[in-house]
Amino acid sequence: MKIVLLGPPGSGKGTQANLICKKYDIPHISTGDIFRTNIANGTALGKKAKEYIDAGSLVPDELTIKIVEDRLKQDDCKNGFVLDGFPRVRTQAEALSKMTQIDKAIMIDLDDEEIINRLSKRRMCRKCGNPTHLDNLINGYCEKCGGEVYTRADDAPEVIKQRLIKQKLPQDVVDFYKDLGLFEKINSTNSMEETFKLVDSILSGIKE
Ligand code: AP5
Ligand code: MG
Repeated sequence: MKIVLLGPPGSGKGTQANLICKKYDIPHISTGDIFRTNIANGTALGKKAKEYIDAGSLVPDELTIKIVEDRLKQDDCKNGFVLDGFPRVRTQAEALSKMTQIDKAIMIDLDDEEIINRLSKRRMCRKCGNPTHLDNLINGYCEKCGGEVYTRADDAPEVIKQRLIKQKLPQDVVDFYKDLGLFEKINSTNSMEETFKLVDSILSGIKE
């Protein structure tokens, strides 16, 4: 099962990707996570990407496409994967179609007001990478694994604003997948579990 999750910043892509990967036992590939790991490790890629991420902008294609290409060549992607946050522009969608054939492109949508509300209260677990809402922490620690949590640098109010302006999903990406008959759209206004039911009903229609 090869799935692409599209959608604006903070719409719940990572949350739904985690649920899909747990149920279907496939790897979760988040370009944002790969950049953050590189930033934390001080790599050359991380140094370049940081500049763009801190400004709420997209990282240029010449850096982004290559990391996905390399990641999809790894053995654990043979039986499928969930790509979270890639592609974001038409050139990335076209590049991906040359690497592999995906089964569905699911857009997780949410209105800006709720995105701001969720991102301003999001905490990330250092141990398991789980994104969670401030209110769900247990004594200030990750409710899933008990790990220490932190606030993402790009969840600062001014950066959230820039991400929402600069990172709307372009219509030509939607059209790319519509033309292939692979596009689906759901809204994540309801709970994570209710949203996952919608996602999973789409996945259950995929013929293996
Ligand atoms: P990335 O890390 O992908 O950030 P993003 O797209 O802005 O999305 P987020 O991770 O912030 O949100 P999400 O949709 O995963 O939501 P989540 O599940 O956490 O990318 C970071 C940066 O890297 C980008 O800004 C860009 O600069 C760069 N980049 C990455 N990919 C790139 C690409 N392809 N090309 C160029 N540049 C790229 O949920 C958010 C919060 O809501 C959480 O607290 C969660 O607990 C909560 N929540 C989720 N679902 C629900 C629900 N149903 N009900 C209530 N709360 C919920
Ligand atoms: Mg995410």
